[in-house]
Amino acid sequence: MASQQNGFSIDKSSEWAELSRLSSAIDETSIRALFEADPDRAAAMAIEAAGFYVDYSKHLVTGEVLDQLVALADRADVVGQREAMFDGAVLNTTEGRQVLHTALRRPAAEAVIVDGEDVVPEVHRVLDQMAVFAHQVRSGSWLGSTGKPITSIVNIGIGGSDLGPAMAYHALRPFSQRNLEFRFVSNIDPTALSEALIGLDPETTMFIVVSKTFGTVETLTNAATARAWLAAALGQPAVAKHFVAVSTNKQRVAEFGIDTDNMFGFWDWVGGRYSVGSAVGLSLMLAIGNDGFRDFLAGMHDMDQHFRTAPLAQNLPVVLGLLSIWYTNFGNAQTHAVLPYSDHLARFPAYLQQLDMESNGKGVDKGGRTVSYATGPVVWGEPATNGQHAFYQLIHQGTHRIPADFIGFMRPTGETSDPLWSHHLRNHHDLLMANFFAQTEALAFGQSHDDPQRQFTGDRPTTTILADQLTPRTLGALIALYEHKVFTMGAIWGINSFDQFGVELGKVLATAIGQEITDADRPLAHDQSTNVLLDRYRNQRL
Ligand code: F6P
Repeated sequence: MASQQNGFSIDKSSEWAELSRLSSAIDETSIRALFEADPDRAAAMAIEAAGFYVDYSKHLVTGEVLDQLVALADRADVVGQREAMFDGAVLNTTEGRQVLHTALRRPAAEAVIVDGEDVVPEVHRVLDQMAVFAHQVRSGSWLGSTGKPITSIVNIGIGGSDLGPAMAYHALRPFSQRNLEFRFVSNIDPTALSEALIGLDPETTMFIVVSKTFGTVETLTNAATARAWLAAALGQPAVAKHFVAVSTNKQRVAEFGIDTDNMFGFWDWVGGRYSVGSAVGLSLMLAIGNDGFRDFLAGMHDMDQHFRTAPLAQNLPVVLGLLSIWYTNFGNAQTHAVLPYSDHLARFPAYLQQLDMESNGKGVDKGGRTVSYATGPVVWGEPATNGQHAFYQLIHQGTHRIPADFIGFMRPTGETSDPLWSHHLRNHHDLLMANFFAQTEALAFGQSHDDPQRQFTGDRPTTTILADQLTPRTLGALIALYEHKVFTMGAIWGINSFDQFGVELGKVLATAIGQEITDADRPLAHDQSTNVLLDRYRNQRL
């Protein structure tokens, strides 16, 4: 097995050298010529799996390049690393942890042994605990401290404890119980919480405080202020009926003052950005119900199964990861756009930013050596067609190569029995999808014109990701698709995709600066620029 600990570096492999050689032709390759040379290209370069039809024929790749990319994956032992992840090996070596988010969606009959113990029964015990609570809130039988049912739910968390549930809730709103209102607070900016509380009645509000560590300053500060807001209206004892916690840290939950009977646990082997299928998704389960949440997990499991069993060349997450490696390491691309043709997926690019960039934003390999090749690209995007009227210009005619994922659906969600509304819904959706197909065609094939300003060069690579409808099951599979894509890329680069030390320094400095701000007599001992800025803030903040 290729191992960074043994001094192996993927860029020294013969497969890497061969890809470098092939890449010198990338600027001479034209997508049009690739299609002309192969009448079966579109059919050959498509994969159907876990409810998706994915076309990757509009890429600047030949069959030879794809074969060599698969050989690179073999060389990096992606299969061995994948099996190690599913089997509970300590892949997160810097933190000494297993990487087992896939265990969260295993059927109850299966087993995953961690430190000699099967974790699947515990996973299902927590899911059942969540289901009981969700049923109580949704049915109105969970009563607040004054005897009223809960109508508003506020999720307080940040990073993986916010982005997953917030994204999935927005994505699946058509499947949610509409008499319940959901709000998400993450930012420590005081306006985030104060805005979220506007119009809420403490008697009918439930706070879900989500933090893996229960030590994140933003979340604890927001939760403490929310608790004060509630206690001011209903008294301190009311907290027991209006606050629940999701965490791995029982002691800190108790110290914060939340009854640990109202705590939903998860485990160290679930990374924050991989945690939406755990109790971190409690707000989602409250919205879409236990059955909907189980469908969501089933979709993730569908993709897990595909990732685990399909040959690499027909393996969706692997192929998407390899294409991204092609452009990142051999095609001079620094960014990757994710363009959902669904307004419900408005938060999906932000969710993917954490998933991808916190995972693969690493410059040192598992052996501790600085890597000499590019790793995770900048991930960005917006739902279309809004994006078309904003930044697509640069993708079409700018100087950067920006591979893009187009995500679309055959049918809109929210179909109704009202024929008039159904007609409008279908009309909008067809127009949306007309744009979806038009954009990838224009990006790939361009248009020649006598006037260079009006010329579209084409050869702008895209992947088309199509599913029947945005349902809980589809969303689960889509999330797992990207999780495993990110895994594949990290495995090839030989980096640890599961730690995030890069966010620590800023947190440490913020703690020290926080004390300097509130104690104006403290001497400032930073760099010149920071001292000047802090001094200005200290003098003008009140
Ligand atoms: O600071 C980054 C991070 O650790 C993320 O990885 C994580 O999702 C987020 O903070 C929130 O952490 P927690 O769930 O422990 O509050």
